[in-house]
Amino acid sequence: MDRTQVINFGPGPSALPDSVLEESAKALLNFQGTGIGISEISHRSKEFGAVVKRLEQLIRTQLDVPPTHHILFIQGGGTQQFSSFVLNMLARYRLLHPNIPDEEHVMDYVVTGSWSKKAAEEARRLGGAHVNIVVDAREHSSDGKSFTGIPPHEAFKFSADPALIYYCENETVHGVQFAQEDRTPSSFPFHLLARDAPGGGAIPPLVADYSSSFMSRKIPRLADHAVIFAGAQKNIGPSGVTIVIVREDCLVDVDAAAKMGAAPVPKMLAYKTYSDSGSLYNTPPTFAIYVAMLVLERMENVGGLKVVEETNRRKQEKLYGVLKESEGKNLIRFNVKDGSRSWMNVVFRGKDEELEKQFLASGEAQGFKSMKGHRSVGGIRVSIYNAITEEQVDKLVSFIKEFNEKIAA
Ligand SMILES: Cc1ncc(COP(=O)(O)O)c(C=O)c1O
Repeated sequence: MDRTQVINFGPGPSALPDSVLEESAKALLNFQGTGIGISEISHRSKEFGAVVKRLEQLIRTQLDVPPTHHILFIQGGGTQQFSSFVLNMLARYRLLHPNIPDEEHVMDYVVTGSWSKKAAEEARRLGGAHVNIVVDAREHSSDGKSFTGIPPHEAFKFSADPALIYYCENETVHGVQFAQEDRTPSSFPFHLLARDAPGGGAIPPLVADYSSSFMSRKIPRLADHAVIFAGAQKNIGPSGVTIVIVREDCLVDVDAAAKMGAAPVPKMLAYKTYSDSGSLYNTPPTFAIYVAMLVLERMENVGGLKVVEETNRRKQEKLYGVLKESEGKNLIRFNVKDGSRSWMNVVFRGKDEELEKQFLASGEAQGFKSMKGHRSVGGIRVSIYNAITEEQVDKLVSFIKEFNEKIAA
């Protein structure tokens, strides 16, 4: 099958722009006229050094990352971050509070889907501190056991002085996302954290998993975060590199903390290792970094995050629009309540399994790939990351309209 006959709605790794892939393919043979391929050139060469700097600059300008925050490039994916931020933030807490015993350290986890559940499990596994579940969204669903949306703000129970507060901005499997507008019902309740609360005070280290929504729209209250991380393989590149934005005060000396009783942190998990070396302490994932740079250069050329965000807004409006028509005809039902539905991962169930099978098979015949829902949820999941164009979404929308008519006939 030819690439032109396919639209890849996969959840990740996912589609990348053709022009970027073509340029990367050329660079694999000859990178910037050096006669050496991008995967063959030294990570210490001046040419590759310029790629790392350029990628950092593209992220900084498009996301408006303030100078207080460093941008690091790390291997190991989002999953490694589930361990890294725990160890770094516990080390920080130990340095700040030498006399509070480990068993009184608390980490706050907001659980809204399978990824945040997994992150909380890793925090428990690493031990050393109590894991407080700020809220478990399942307890606020109609059946008491499903992830179907962001719980009401009054359900969030933050600790008084946690070492970190973690949330996952977009739950890729369940299709649950925080609303972007501050203080709306499904937004992250920043206003309940110390600084906005009566009496003021600093916000505890806020850690956000943006793996499946990074660079798709503006990050609310970016500067208030201690750590924001995202694997590249959804919106900005191949797997292999994880972008980690870390506020300066969270780049702590983990060895000094260990001397004071904190758990020793492997060198490659310490954020400071990367900030001290410009992410070049050891050999980084050179090809992934290069492709991510091309993707973001292309993004800048089409107008940057603002334009991409508006396109993404229209894409999801169109798709949810036609699906609401399907819902009105009792052909599908949404898993996720309105207001918490993801812009990136559109998740729904057919009225029965037979209809789901028919939908997936008819879609496949049109070249629509990877729309099957995650095995833990079932149904259908359409991922419309940045590289999926509005025209491609239009094609899917027309297909759904025709499908509905065929079923009704
Ligand atoms: C929201 C979220 N967090 C974390 C991960 C884990 O990322 P990785 O596979 O890069 O470890 C994923 C992967 O799909 C994800 O969607």
